Amino acid sequence: MPGTDRLTLRRPDDWHLHLRDGALLRAVLPATLKRFGRAVVMPNLRPPVTGLAEAAGYRDRILALVPSDIRFQPLMTCYAADDTDPDQVETGWRDGLFAAVKLYPAHATTNSDRGVTDPARIRGLLERLQRLGMPLLVHGEVTDPGIDVFDREAVFLDRVLAPMLADFPALRVVLEHVTTADAVAFVRAHAADGRLGATITVHHLLLNRNALFAGGLRPHAWCLPVLKRERHRLALVDAATSGEPWFFLGTDSAPHPVTAKESARGCAGIFTAPAALELYAEVFDRAGALDRLEAFASLNGPRFYRLPVNRDTVTLERGRWRMAETVGGVVPFRAGADIEWRLVP
Ligand code: NCD
Ligand code: ZN
Repeated sequence: MPGTDRLTLRRPDDWHLHLRDGALLRAVLPATLKRFGRAVVMPNLRPPVTGLAEAAGYRDRILALVPSDIRFQPLMTCYAADDTDPDQVETGWRDGLFAAVKLYPAHATTNSDRGVTDPARIRGLLERLQRLGMPLLVHGEVTDPGIDVFDREAVFLDRVLAPMLADFPALRVVLEHVTTADAVAFVRAHAADGRLGATITVHHLLLNRNALFAGGLRPHAWCLPVLKRERHRLALVDAATSGEPWFFLGTDSAPHPVTAKESARGCAGIFTAPAALELYAEVFDRAGALDRLEAFASLNGPRFYRLPVNRDTVTLERGRWRMAETVGGVVPFRAGADIEWRLVP
């Protein structure tokens, strides 16, 4: 299969996606519908999706935009706050509304100001998730201003995640958008019993931190966790293409209007959805690992989430096309430049 020009795989899922709401939702959703069967939808709206009614309403607004001939399932998440009620989370889980709870350390990233100020405050919630077997999705960065921004993920592993996994030995956790060799090693060390998984974005597989400064300051390469050194990117490529079942696809596609990105305080987030699967194929092709793409994109995620694999397939072929300059007022990844693989309609 390495060197192949055409590849058919089970339809993949996106295990970490920002869809936003309103006009932006309408503009960005079609790109995901074309490629993915399901997506874990992040709850960091303004205000955040903290309750049952908010989540059901958001899910229905997404589904109302799905054409009748397309099968797509949004997997909704509950935004954890210091005062999140475990009973409500359990109700949402039992009703099939919530697929997971998302933990943002307060002020770690976009719309996280209502996030968790100290994990000690949500012990009751963590106990409940552990009992239910319901996944906790973690934005793994400390927010301590004394910690260098490039070290925030590695410090989080030591200070927060390792003690949490030890305190709650059956808690099921996804470490979202891992960006460092440290996180890859941490996941490998803790994942063997199937209780820890990790998503990997395609932009962290393709770019290192030099991209932030290539010929000038590049707001469209700014995301959180921030891009890291080349040695970390190589560790991520090794993890994604390893076939190990705890690593799976999560784009973290995070659209912001161009005016919010190109600003004195530009928002973090990279909009990869318009070519997400094609870009992952590029990474796996360059690594000589196209035969492992299906495990990463379509099989490992459902296994962690204990969901069936999608029944239909998608086909990719080698073939260059040009990404648009903007999609719905958002500048996509590779705007105006070439993508090496394409979806066969
Ligand atoms: C995300 C967003 O814009 O919502 N931004 C990002 O850079 N990834 C939030 C997040 O996932 O951290
Ligand atoms: Zn995200």
